[in-house]
Amino acid sequence: MTDDFPEPAPLSSHGPARVIALCNQKGGVGKTTTSVNVAAAMAEYGRKVLLVDFDPQGAASAGLGINGEALDRTVYNLLMESGASTREVIVETKVPGLDLLPANIDLSAAEVQLVGEVARESALSRALRPVLDDYDAILVDCQPSLGLLTVNALVAAHGVIIPLAAEYFAMRGVKLLVDTIAKVQDRLNPRLTIDAIVPTLYDGRTLHAQEVVERVREAFGDRVTETQISRTVKFPDATIAAEPITTFAPTHPGAEAYRRLARELVARGVAA
Ligand SMILES: Nc1ncnc2c1ncn2[C@@H]1O[C@H](COP(=O)(O)OP(=O)(O)OP(=O)(O)O)[C@@H](O)[C@H]1O
Ligand SMILES: [Mg+2]
Repeated sequence: MTDDFPEPAPLSSHGPARVIALCNQKGGVGKTTTSVNVAAAMAEYGRKVLLVDFDPQGAASAGLGINGEALDRTVYNLLMESGASTREVIVETKVPGLDLLPANIDLSAAEVQLVGEVARESALSRALRPVLDDYDAILVDCQPSLGLLTVNALVAAHGVIIPLAAEYFAMRGVKLLVDTIAKVQDRLNPRLTIDAIVPTLYDGRTLHAQEVVERVREAFGDRVTETQISRTVKFPDATIAAEPITTFAPTHPGAEAYRRLARELVARGVAA
């Protein structure tokens, strides 16, 4: 066991970005919380980070204080309109070094509208291409589904991070997700790898949570991160405050856990 992970060395130049999709078709497992807070922690370490909100609910946008419903143009326009400029849709957040590609409910139509398009699986990949050199990391917060939008995220990505709630039925569904990732890798994106499985919503007071994480580690070996994210009410509090926990409660153990996860991801070579 490593005691801790070193603080990432400063970068002298930026880009090209590694694209990482945060996926799990199970709802409420910490995809958005992990996307927002890993992105904020990496930005704290001097990385230039783009967070792509790829869920029509717009939770990642809201979590960074940006109301997608008030915006005319979002990631949806980039998927559907050739000629739309990615840089013009990206917005800055209050966290220095962290930008957002916002979403709103418009995105719910894309799943159906993309079906008739040529190269429907690579619409997000096309949209991100013009900004790859601007960032060190691009994180894509997926919706809880394995539909065409998630396939677009997997085609655009170099790697996948799977947040996995430390709860009884956590393993159910992960096989389907792993099979979907393998299919995308085989048919559409040979470079795709599973970068990390992150135990979330961990309640260390229960034997049950410890058993679940043990079983996850048995099943997935060293793909499971050493860092696990404990359950604490500070996360919903930060969501309501529309801030990452790293700025809302910078010294809280929850903020430190996501910084440690960011350091672990850099140490694993998942991020620059
Ligand atoms: N470690 C944690 N401790 C306590 N609450 C948490 C933690 N992580 C996330 N939450 C809360 O659990 C809820 C679901 O988390 P989150 O939105 O990150 O999951 P999600 O996988 O993105 O959900 P969805 O599938 O709906 O997109 C939120 O209210 C969030 O604030
Ligand atoms: Mg979410």
